[in-house]
Amino acid sequence: MTQHLLLPLVVLAIRPLPGDLQDSASPTQEADDLDCGRPEPSARIMGGSDAQPGTWPWQVSLHHRGSHVCGGSLIAPSWVLSAAHCFVSNGTLEPAAEWAVLLGVHSQDGPLDGAHVRAVAAILVPDNYSSVELGADLALLRLASPARLGPAVRPVCLPRASHRFVHGTACWATGWGDVQEADPLPVPWVLQEVRLKLLGEAACQCLYSRPGPFNLTFQLLPGMLCAGYPEGRRDTCQGDSGGPLVCEEGGRWFQAGITSFGFGCGRRNRPGVFTAVAPYEAWIRAQVMGSEPGPAFPIQPQEPQSGPGEPREENCTIALPECGKAPRPGAWPWEAQVIVPGSRPCHGALVSESWVLAPATCFLDPINPDDAPRDLGAWRVLLPSRPRAERVARLVAHENASWDDASDLALLQLRAPVNLSAAPRPVCLPHPEHYFLPGSRCRLARWGRGERAPRSSALLEAELLSRWWCHCLHGRQGAQVPLPGDPPRALCPAYREEEEEDDSGWSLLCQEEGTWFLAGVADLSGNCLRPRVFSPLHDHGPWISHVARGAYLEDQLAWDWGPDGEETEPHTCPPHTEHGACGLQPEASPEGLLWPWLAEVHVAGDRVCAGILVAPSWVLAATHCVLRLGSTTVPHMEVYLGWAGASPRVSRLVVSIRLPRHLGLRPPLALLELSSRVEPSPAALPICLYPGGLPLGASCWVLGWKDPQDRVPVAAAVSILTPRLCHCLYESVLPPGTLCVLYTEGQEDKCEVTSAPPLLCRTQGGSWVLVGMAMRGSRELFAAVGPEEAWISQTVGEVHFLPPSGSPYWPPEGSNLCPPALAGAPGSPRSALSVLLLLLPPALLQG
Ligand code: ARG
Repeated sequence: MTQHLLLPLVVLAIRPLPGDLQDSASPTQEADDLDCGRPEPSARIMGGSDAQPGTWPWQVSLHHRGSHVCGGSLIAPSWVLSAAHCFVSNGTLEPAAEWAVLLGVHSQDGPLDGAHVRAVAAILVPDNYSSVELGADLALLRLASPARLGPAVRPVCLPRASHRFVHGTACWATGWGDVQEADPLPVPWVLQEVRLKLLGEAACQCLYSRPGPFNLTFQLLPGMLCAGYPEGRRDTCQGDSGGPLVCEEGGRWFQAGITSFGFGCGRRNRPGVFTAVAPYEAWIRAQVMGSEPGPAFPIQPQEPQSGPGEPREENCTIALPECGKAPRPGAWPWEAQVIVPGSRPCHGALVSESWVLAPATCFLDPINPDDAPRDLGAWRVLLPSRPRAERVARLVAHENASWDDASDLALLQLRAPVNLSAAPRPVCLPHPEHYFLPGSRCRLARWGRGERAPRSSALLEAELLSRWWCHCLHGRQGAQVPLPGDPPRALCPAYREEEEEDDSGWSLLCQEEGTWFLAGVADLSGNCLRPRVFSPLHDHGPWISHVARGAYLEDQLAWDWGPDGEETEPHTCPPHTEHGACGLQPEASPEGLLWPWLAEVHVAGDRVCAGILVAPSWVLAATHCVLRLGSTTVPHMEVYLGWAGASPRVSRLVVSIRLPRHLGLRPPLALLELSSRVEPSPAALPICLYPGGLPLGASCWVLGWKDPQDRVPVAAAVSILTPRLCHCLYESVLPPGTLCVLYTEGQEDKCEVTSAPPLLCRTQGGSWVLVGMAMRGSRELFAAVGPEEAWISQTVGEVHFLPPSGSPYWPPEGSNLCPPALAGAPGSPRSALSVLLLLLPPALLQG
């Protein structure tokens, strides 16, 4: 059962007192019926905060092989009502002998004073029960011997089929179930009670008809009823099933429902679903026939006031998120600054009215994490729009905080809860199954200690990259990428990063439908990798809500990733090399495709050549472009990496140029050594290389610029011709190891050639491989990179040559005969080729 922290106190004041119950008019009762629905007045003790012993004397606990599994209600000395799904697994009913009924229990810890146990003789389930969402989720248990009725053990009244429970009525659900999702009731396991409002069928259907994450919708069926609140937060939960939902009428408690199911627990717009008891009057009567005394079905004390037939439906009220609203990005109403005397302020986030989440390392000595700070009294928390600083009552560090970066979290409790309004307002937290879509709009916000003033807000804009990219960059080859719905292990945003040292930490806020979630946190300090990876908060939701009861975990608000979105993304990581991942392309973004290995090589301030990052400090380029014929000195060169339009980007100076000696004076490929390493990021990542010919089944592209002035990357699809065809077309002019390409219709003029564009192929596994660099002035001819493996590997340490697979591209040349059509073909090789294409089997083309 989930309930608001303060609820039990409120509850006791509202519930009618024993005296009221006794004084109220006694309804007509059938002579042979047993007295029902009246707790023993003397058993109720005034004051206290938990459900008082004896308040709900019909509540039983159903134990399966010795532990509590479900609740139930006593309806007659030998009969207990519960939910079918407690007893049916994989379509079969579990044996009655494995179950025991505990009656008169209050706390399930220690000696069960006044409680007694009964074996189960039979379990009866309606024939048409199959699964909870299809209804008829009820069961009757016949006890092996009658229960001993007494102050703590009494039956509840059952409603007749004609009984109408008025929508909006406050009723009570009880049980020993979880206090929140994945958060079991703590010792001493005292029976919990929660007040729930009956929701009209239309209102409930309206809430459940709005598709939730993973397009969850659900059809409410006859025989079901809903109770709870559109805003959630009070509900039954796992372990409460089978327990009763009771409403008081005329001094008696009638069981309106049986706890059946829900979506999560206490979530917004997802009220609990109960089996309505009244419609099952006939079924219950038929099962208990002949047993004396049987359950009581008192006549409804008063007809509901709302006129004939169904009471009027309330309208459909959809609750809106109470967390994560910000007036504008950057003005975060949850931004909390924790002031600890003697150290720099620590930035955290307000997650509820009383709790602030911040990095544990702000407060704890990572070497001696058990040296808890003692002077909490002097600590202060600054929150937006609060006239005074808040005081701190308690610090709770995550249990793994000291050794696990991903768990570097602590919760600080404020001495007094703050009033939530436009500000301060808590940030929303994700559930474990939350799937932030690739391309989500995110922002970086300050997290932990940082010396620098916040950067300009445009620089803090970020966009989430796909899980595949993020996971495979940091994961292993062949690793499985978590599917949507599984918690991610890392979050990678693309953002414009400055080339500066910044030791501050950042949190990652991602927006869905105008609501901001705290998606992840990262500590960039002291890490030369300057990680672009954030640790997701997904796994910490249960811990945060366990400590800070009433934290704002919010369902995913955007889930429409389209028919061909996520499904087409590969779920295993492509081959890595010993130096890690290469050639992983982040998915398309509104700024266009990201080509993290495409480098602009600015030569002597007068031209720009295309280059490809092949290792953290090496770029491969075409010699003829970077070294002009006749020049004797090495020109000044600067290399820029990063995506189009993004500035500032990663820039490096070229400190040396290496040419392979064995190819004579003007070899086609040049390696440029950069002044310092470029760490992997969405903006800069080395490409893979391939030693043999071409990876099998790859699709290939010439990557260049439409215009060397604006340098927006464009890719033109090409097919690579077999060596024989290439040789036949271009005859003697070709140096060995030249690749010839054929452009796909309409792609020829996509990129210019003066910058010597590279030829890339995308492997079936999804990684990109550099196969060639354009030869001087040519669109079709490329110097192959593969044959230069030895030279490249010797020159560059961390180069990514993938292990060869499939057949080599350069097979031993067979016959030297060229297809006869070529011999007489007039004009250029291109027109010869068009003729040829009509004559040759497609197998000659590799694409
Ligand atoms: N099926 C759960 C059980 O077996 C009860 C879940 C009720 N959930 C809810 N959100 N109301 O205990």
